[in-house]
Amino acid sequence: MTDNRLKVLIPEERIEARVAELGREIRERMGDGPITCIGVLKGSFVFMADLVRAIGGEVRCEFLGVSSYHGGTRSTGVVRITEDLRHPIEDQDCLIVEDIVDTGLTMDYLLRMLAVRGPRSVRVCTLLDKPAHREIDLDIDFVGFQIPDEFVVGYGLDLGEFYRNLPYIAVYTP
Ligand code: PRP
Repeated sequence: MTDNRLKVLIPEERIEARVAELGREIRERMGDGPITCIGVLKGSFVFMADLVRAIGGEVRCEFLGVSSYHGGTRSTGVVRITEDLRHPIEDQDCLIVEDIVDTGLTMDYLLRMLAVRGPRSVRVCTLLDKPAHREIDLDIDFVGFQIPDEFVVGYGLDLGEFYRNLPYIAVYTP
């Protein structure tokens, strides 16, 4: 099925290779101990599934439900928590797993929200970094790909809830 609104930006094989590398980089820098991976729903669910397997070893999987776009193509800056972590993260080495960091408002909110729960450390891994509209200076520890200022879908990222199941990242042009 071809959809001429979609243009492949990052093909499946490049994602696969980069995720494997990220897994190795994360273990190198975070060590061999347990890592609590916190996937930010919904967008991160595909990346999270591949990344935790690439990291290997002792990994806890937690999820945070967050909504900030409310269905459009632009960030509103309003972060809504729709599902909280199931377990405490006190004294744990945590890794927030995102599909994309755009304005940075969501990540900034999450970092402040998690910091008060007493984790040993909190690092950030995003598959995509889109710096064009960054509104807040953020330290992102692990970045899969830096992308240009385009609206992208696939591999977890949606437009009106569709396209999350594409195995690649595509630029969407209406
Ligand atoms: C996306 C993405 C991040 C956020 C990044 O989520 O998953 O959570 O936007 O944008 P920002 O850096 O401008 O804050 P979205 O609200 O689209 O929800 P979804 O993950 O459920 O698709």
